[in-house]
Amino acid sequence: MATEAFEPKTIVVTGGAGFIGSNFCHWVAEHEPGVRMVVLDKLTYAGNPGNLAGIPEGRCELVVGDVCDAELVGWLFEHADACVHFAAESHNDNSIADPSPFLETNVRGTYVLLEAARKHGVRFHHVSTDEVYGDLALDDPARFTEETPYRPSSPYSSTKAASDLLVRAWHRTYGVAATISNCSNNYGPRQHVEKFIPRQITNVLRGERPKLYGDGLNMRDWIHVDDHSSAVWEVLTRGRLGETYLIGADGERSNVDVLRAVLECMGQDPGAFDRVRDRPGHDRRYAIDPAKIRRELGWRPERTDFLAGLAETVEWYRANEPWWAAAKDAAEARYAAQGQ
Ligand code: NAD
Ligand code: DAU
Repeated sequence: MATEAFEPKTIVVTGGAGFIGSNFCHWVAEHEPGVRMVVLDKLTYAGNPGNLAGIPEGRCELVVGDVCDAELVGWLFEHADACVHFAAESHNDNSIADPSPFLETNVRGTYVLLEAARKHGVRFHHVSTDEVYGDLALDDPARFTEETPYRPSSPYSSTKAASDLLVRAWHRTYGVAATISNCSNNYGPRQHVEKFIPRQITNVLRGERPKLYGDGLNMRDWIHVDDHSSAVWEVLTRGRLGETYLIGADGERSNVDVLRAVLECMGQDPGAFDRVRDRPGHDRRYAIDPAKIRRELGWRPERTDFLAGLAETVEWYRANEPWWAAAKDAAEARYAAQGQ
């Protein structure tokens, strides 16, 4: 089913100084010795050049710039054979407070990259989210598949949905060699402290009580970031052009269960948290059916022991307070202003 393997030599990785993009760069550096990476990252509040530390000299170069800068993108694409597009404004709560950077980066940025891919014949892999499919009821036996209709709920997910549609149109109309993947909730080291799991871990490390939105019964489908990276590599190199692949690891858990697991893992009373104002429009449940990527590409997640991955993640935040301290102050100031 899969097409002949594509063997990129130089990849532009947009958003490679963020959580998942930097993990992907580490993963490629470790597993694909012949590949050179050029990270294009604007270093917003979510980007940190330190996330690329430890990648061997010569394997990965950081270019600080904006995916909306057509001239810069064109110049980088002249010297690349593929682009893996992670760069985005990625946090739902921020999109509710101010949607405008989401439209700019997620929609216009993807358009600029697609135009450059078209002009320079660069293979394009678009990293997207399961949130484009909206949400499922808690008691719905269904999971998302590649055929599920788009029904995004938030400003964030609607801009990601728009970007996916641009990729599909540029493939069909202009023949851009593109693939898309839609993944579920990632966790692991170097995730920004605004996100659920790192926010609660760092609250406990600071002696603050964790904060749960609403009734906490919302379900998310957790995958370790290493598994997302290996799946993106499979789709980039062996996926069929024009196709979408859903990435998930059968990791459905309610928020309250995840929070209790964090507290127990950190030696705390599992009930020691506060309930705070719910997120407006809060999606109830996400769940991925990963049958297609398993069947067509033979991909399997390896980091499927959630409690072991969580314990490692807790240890990473415990050992790296200088990495998160300033970002934590800024994120908590934003949450306080929102009553969360
Ligand atoms: P992140 O917020 O941690 O990182 C985003 C990176 O993009 C940062 O380094 C930031 O500086 C950079 N960036 C933002 N705007 C830019 C611009 N205009 N030009 C260049 N760089 C810019 O995000 P993440 O959680 O690592 O998510 C990466 C991608 O994966 C996103 O596209 C997101 O939609 C998708 N995704 C995330 C998850 C998840 O659970 N976090 C799940 C599925 C899909
Ligand atoms: O599903 C993939 C998506 O997962 C990605 O596309 C997004 O980029 C990523 O941010 C993530 O979106 P969520 O909104 O699911 O993740 P977040 O970490 O913000 O929240 C996870 C759940 O936890 C969600 O139901 C809201 C809840 N929550 C979040 C925070 C920050 C809380 O209960 N308390 C909190 O303090």
